Amino acid sequence: MRTAVRFYDALGDEPDALGELLAGLAARPRAIAPKFFYDERGSELFEAICRLPEYYPTRTETAILRQCAPAIAERAPRRAVLVELGSGASEKVRLLLDALRPQAYLGIDISRDFLRAATRRLAHDYPWLAVHAACADFSQPLALRYPPPHVPRLLFFPGSSIGNFTPEEAVALLERLRPLVGPGGGFVVGVDLQKDPRVIRAAYNDARGVTAAFNRNVLYRLRREYGAKVDPERFAHEAVYNEALGRVEMYLVSCGEQEIRLGGRTFVFAPGERLHTEYSYKYTIEGFQALARTAGYRAEAVWTDARGYFSVHYLSLPQ
Ligand code: AVJ
Repeated sequence: MRTAVRFYDALGDEPDALGELLAGLAARPRAIAPKFFYDERGSELFEAICRLPEYYPTRTETAILRQCAPAIAERAPRRAVLVELGSGASEKVRLLLDALRPQAYLGIDISRDFLRAATRRLAHDYPWLAVHAACADFSQPLALRYPPPHVPRLLFFPGSSIGNFTPEEAVALLERLRPLVGPGGGFVVGVDLQKDPRVIRAAYNDARGVTAAFNRNVLYRLRREYGAKVDPERFAHEAVYNEALGRVEMYLVSCGEQEIRLGGRTFVFAPGERLHTEYSYKYTIEGFQALARTAGYRAEAVWTDARGYFSVHYLSLPQ
């Protein structure tokens, strides 16, 4: 039985992470990029979010994938390398593996230890599959040592993680990913859809406060990993749905005047001042297809659920 995972570290020691955090904290409005959510604890909290009754995206996308896996396999290049962006727990990809029978799997995630454990489990459960893992930040240019050029690729980007990018950034990201998809390659993207705002608001304001803990964890992480002086419990979770722009906006709101000290700098927060932590864009099917075309892809197929909550798109690049 094969359980060895070929592991590549493309993240290094994140020389710019502190600089990025400082620049965001100094900016107006203040902001921390959502990729900073995902340390080990943050990845665990995100998995807990996925199990919440209010958080419909995971459950809905899973049901769609279960149903459309054979159709994806029909379109996908034969014996492709399956590359997953933001692979997290590597659970959703399992729905595709038996139908696709790829020649190998590469999971890419920013959360190093979480990625290690998840890809090990995958390799253990799929002994016929060659499993690779690359710890990398896909919001930055990717320098991957695998897969080799000329092998056919199927990119898998589930969970509506694309929604963390503004539409302009999403176009730029899809363009930047084109060499990874390659000529004749396929790209399966999960995209959350615009719907009744009440459903969306509930998904980001769950009754158990798991999303609040996930949001606040970014401040605990500043303390743990970067030696920041900050009182995370004095920041309140806020998630609002901006219907006009089709996006959830997530913030940490300062309860009273207080400081965050980081890397020798002090950031003073006024009472009620917000620290932006995430956008989660919701699209229409046509809106996302237009975006994909702008980035040079063919929008070949789309699958959705009966309620029209979520969509899974098959994009491709010509030979
Ligand atoms: C993993 C980025 C898709 O935007 O829904 C969940 C993250 N944030 N609850 C999302 C998240 C708050 C999630 N994505």
